[in-house]
Amino acid sequence: MIEAQSFQIIDGKHIADVIKSEIAAEVALRRKSGKKIPHLAAILVGHDGGSETYVAHKVKSCEQVGFKSTLIRFEEEVTEEELLGKVAALNQDPDIDGFIVQLPLPAHISEQKIIEAIDYRKDVDGFHPVNVGRSSIGLPAFVSATPAGILELLRRYNIQTSGKHCVVIGRSNIVGKPVASLMMQKSYPGDATVTVCHSRTHNLSEIIRQGDIVIAALGRPGFVKADMIKPGAVVIDVGTTRVPCSETKSGYRLKGDVAFDEVAPKCSYITPVPGGVGPMTIVSLLKNTLLAVQNK
Ligand code: GUN
Repeated sequence: MIEAQSFQIIDGKHIADVIKSEIAAEVALRRKSGKKIPHLAAILVGHDGGSETYVAHKVKSCEQVGFKSTLIRFEEEVTEEELLGKVAALNQDPDIDGFIVQLPLPAHISEQKIIEAIDYRKDVDGFHPVNVGRSSIGLPAFVSATPAGILELLRRYNIQTSGKHCVVIGRSNIVGKPVASLMMQKSYPGDATVTVCHSRTHNLSEIIRQGDIVIAALGRPGFVKADMIKPGAVVIDVGTTRVPCSETKSGYRLKGDVAFDEVAPKCSYITPVPGGVGPMTIVSLLKNTLLAVQNK
C-alpha cells in the first residue's frame, strides 16, 4: 500500500507574478533615471498554434513589465537567407537589447545556423553555443529560459538540492541538457548528483524511482506514473503537450509529462501543468532581457 503524503504544489504562476512585479519596479526606476527601456524582439515563422500562443504570452508579458517589444512575422515559405538577413539586422539595431527566434522552424531552415547567427550578447534565449558553453562552466551568461525558471522555482521554495539525486528525463538542447548541467554546478540550486535519462535508457522506471528530484522533460503526456516516484520526491513537470479538449474555447488544453493526480500524493513538492514551469520560462526571458540592457 502506498501511503499518501501531504504535498505542496509549486505555484509557478504566483512566483512568476512576483518576479514580474520586481522587474516592473526595476523598469520604472530605469525610466525615472532616464535609462534605456528594455526592448525585446521576437521572430515568429508560420502559424503553428503552440508557437503563436507562446509568442503572444511573451509579448503580453513585456507590456506587463513596461518593456518595449517588437513581433516580426514571416510566412512559412521564408528562405533561410531572408531569416539570416533579419537576424543580422536585429544584431545591428542599437534599440533591440535582446531577441528570440521562436522554435521550431520549418524543415527547410537550419535552426542551428539561425541560432549561431544571433549575436550572443542579444541571445536572451540562451541557445547560442557561447552562452551554452559559458553557463555550463559556471561563467556569467544568458541561461536558457526554462532551466533558469526551474532553478528559480527551487530557490524560491527553498528546496534543498545539495547531494540529492536529480533525475532528468529528456536530453533536449533547450531543457534536458542545460538543466542537468545547472543542477550539477557547484552552487545553489545545484550540487546535485545528476542522471540524465532518454529514449534509449534501460530500466528507466528504476532510475526515475531513485530520484529525490525528478525533472520530466520528454514531451510525452502523462508518462511519469506514481509507481516510478520515490515517496517524498520533488517532481518538476516541463511537459506542455497540447491535447484536444472539448471544454475549452481554444479546443485544446496543455498536458504535462507527469500523471499529476496519481503522482502528487507521493511527492513533497510538485509543479502543475499549466501554472508550474511555463510561466517561469517567460519571466526568465524577461530577466535575461533586463540583464542584456544592464550589460550594455
Ligand atoms: N520553442 C519552445 N520553447 C522555446 C523557447 O524557450 N524559445 C524559443 N525561441 N522557442 C521555443
